[in-house]
Amino acid sequence: MVSRPHGGRLVNRVASDSRREKILAEAAELPQIPISVEKAIEAENIARGVYSPLEGFMLSEDFESCLTRMRLASDVPWTLPVVLDVEEGSLVDISEGDEVLLTLDGSPTALMEVEEIYRYDKRRTAVSVFGTDSPEHPGVRRTLKMGDLLLGGRITLVGSVPNPYERYTLWPIETRVLFKEKGWKTVVGFQTRNAPHRGHEELQKTALAFVDGVFINPVIGRKKPGDFRDDVILEAYRALIRHYYPRDTAVLAILRYEMRYAGPREAVHHAIMRKNFGCTHFIVGRDHAGVGNFYPPYAAQEIFREFPDLGVTPLFFREFFYCRRCGGLANEKTCPHPESDRVRFSGTKIRELIERGEVPPPEVMRPEVAEVILSFEDPFVR
Ligand code: ADX
Repeated sequence: MVSRPHGGRLVNRVASDSRREKILAEAAELPQIPISVEKAIEAENIARGVYSPLEGFMLSEDFESCLTRMRLASDVPWTLPVVLDVEEGSLVDISEGDEVLLTLDGSPTALMEVEEIYRYDKRRTAVSVFGTDSPEHPGVRRTLKMGDLLLGGRITLVGSVPNPYERYTLWPIETRVLFKEKGWKTVVGFQTRNAPHRGHEELQKTALAFVDGVFINPVIGRKKPGDFRDDVILEAYRALIRHYYPRDTAVLAILRYEMRYAGPREAVHHAIMRKNFGCTHFIVGRDHAGVGNFYPPYAAQEIFREFPDLGVTPLFFREFFYCRRCGGLANEKTCPHPESDRVRFSGTKIRELIERGEVPPPEVMRPEVAEVILSFEDPFVR
């Protein structure tokens, strides 16, 4: 049995063929709201059940409840706002109760029933979600730049968002079937925004000792400069799985999603999305979804205490490092040796080596993975 969808039912807001034809035939009469590719991806995630039980962009009641209680008004755990923001002046002739067409580059993406148009306080939103209003935080900067109004209401997907990684894309309805076909009763979800170092592999393999399969689900989408490029992450994982994973223990598929870097709150959100894909377990390591020094290293584990009703089991890990005396991967629970024996996996150091064209040592990164990364002219987001 894979996990039950969050809130009990897998949402499907994709228009049937006949409904889509009808909506598109009437499109010329509907007011249009142009949206960014990131918002179009959010609409697709809603429609295809990644964000179950949400059926649309949040109404103010859910938004408020999410900020203050980390739950939807229905009490279902929910830690990050999923909202559609617009500029005040852009809503000519649109009012509550209207149907509108959300368009991406002029093409219809979704029909939205605008149930509510409401104001919100950006700074307060940032402080609730990110625990800070520092402009140094990339999520705060984005929040402060949002439009002044939020539109809430159900959506119906009528178009798809151009996807360069179609062959790596699986939706919850598909992964649920796939896990079942593989005979996996327990599946651990792994969130990542990075090419894999040995620590990432160790997290997955330690978890694999207890569950039937791992769902490696890298986030593809807009990231911050210095992060690995999407194609690099995918090719690096393919090499890792090919050379180091037993057959039929790992499924690799992308998640199109914009990292918020919201640390603890985002860790819970990550777990909820993977629950919707069918995962029974979810890995949370050191500084999950963190950025800079904004969150204590294990805050993203502690927050799970508030959600005994989450319906997906978090697996917590202390920081993995390579210990020369142990002769392998270890963490503070398994290794008694001093710091001088340990090699830590610093993203910054790995990046520096790669930028200089140097191969990270095998204690830090599998040579086959390093080779793939170094074969790219520029593996990083600029
Ligand atoms: S994240 O933003 O997606 O969290 P990253 O891809 O680096 O960043 O991490 C993926 C997962 O691995 C997260 O759960 C993170 O906490 C965990 N992680 C990364 N490096 C380590 C490490 N050295 N030890 C333990 N956990 C780690």
